[in-house]
Amino acid sequence: MARGCLPASTLRRAVARQRAGVRWLLALLLAAMGLAALAQNRGWVRIAADGLHDPRSPALGVLQEPGEALAALPHDAVGNQVRWVKALDEGAIQPRTNILPETRVNLRLSEVLLKNTGEMAMVRFPHRQHTAWLDCSNCHGAAGLFEQQAGATKINMMLILSGEKCGLCHGAVAFPLTECKRCHSVERGSPEHQAFGNALVREATPP
Ligand code: HEC
Ligand code: HEC
Ligand code: HEC
Repeated sequence: MARGCLPASTLRRAVARQRAGVRWLLALLLAAMGLAALAQNRGWVRIAADGLHDPRSPALGVLQEPGEALAALPHDAVGNQVRWVKALDEGAIQPRTNILPETRVNLRLSEVLLKNTGEMAMVRFPHRQHTAWLDCSNCHGAAGLFEQQAGATKINMMLILSGEKCGLCHGAVAFPLTECKRCHSVERGSPEHQAFGNALVREATPP
């Protein structure tokens, strides 16, 4: 998952500067990320060279190469190079929803607007795109990641960059933190903002 990622210190600096209102650094960072993506050889590291599998293991001949499995799915320039929500929405993958028959899939459609973003566009947290893969209990209740009340959880970029809150998954198993705009997607005063009216929560329509 480290592919296409920048060191946390670089991101931390970018966030601090952005907070102070210096937009050019972010532009530079994005440009550098773009160049890094271009310079990067598209495609997936073969398992023999991924540093995880023993290259001498006889199992290598049996295991499927990531490229073979993932190349046909909607492309992403970052992370593991698959746009997973799109893959699911388009039916390109049909993951099994439950192993135990008693497991219930709880899809939630609401979106929460997180406004403490300083100079940056606000963050829209979409429940549907998360509950398609995750259970409520992964984030609420005992997991203690987020309150079930809009605006009640203390979240900021330092926590996220330290692997807490959104950063528990993003940058680890979900799209990387370099993709600022995928979270910071609601400009103040934009139609996306107006869709919330004065509220922090709105019901989204399924795709
Ligand atoms: C990936 C993490 C995640 C999952 C999974 C998740 N939530 Fe949330 N939920 C959040 C976040 C983030 C907020 C906003 C918290 C804040 O603003 O302080 C939130 C807010 C809420 C709220 C208040 C806003 C609203 O939508 O009315 C409720 C209620 C809620 N969640 C219920 C649920 C239920 C029920 C499920 C399972 C069907 C669920 N959540 C699954 C992260 C999650
Ligand atoms: C996985 C989602 C996600 C990504 C990716 C992300 N952010 Fe954030 N960011 C948040 C959330 C959530 C908050 C807190 C919002 C709130 O609590 O109202 C936040 C807050 C902020 C703030 C407000 C001040 C602070 O320190 O918290 C700044 C500035 C910021 N982000 C900059 C960035 C920049 C620059 C990037 C890209 C390098 C980025 N963010 C990427 C989710 C994200
Ligand atoms: C428990 C793990 C987890 C947490 C915590 C989490 N996410 Fe996610 N998120 C995922 C997964 C898994 C996906 C789907 C895979 C992907 O897009 O990389 C996803 C997808 C998304 C998407 C949709 C991307 C798309 O292509 O439509 C957004 C936006 C997002 N997350 C924002 C956030 C924000 C903001 C927070 C914190 C408030 C957060 N996430 C917390 C796991 C998590």
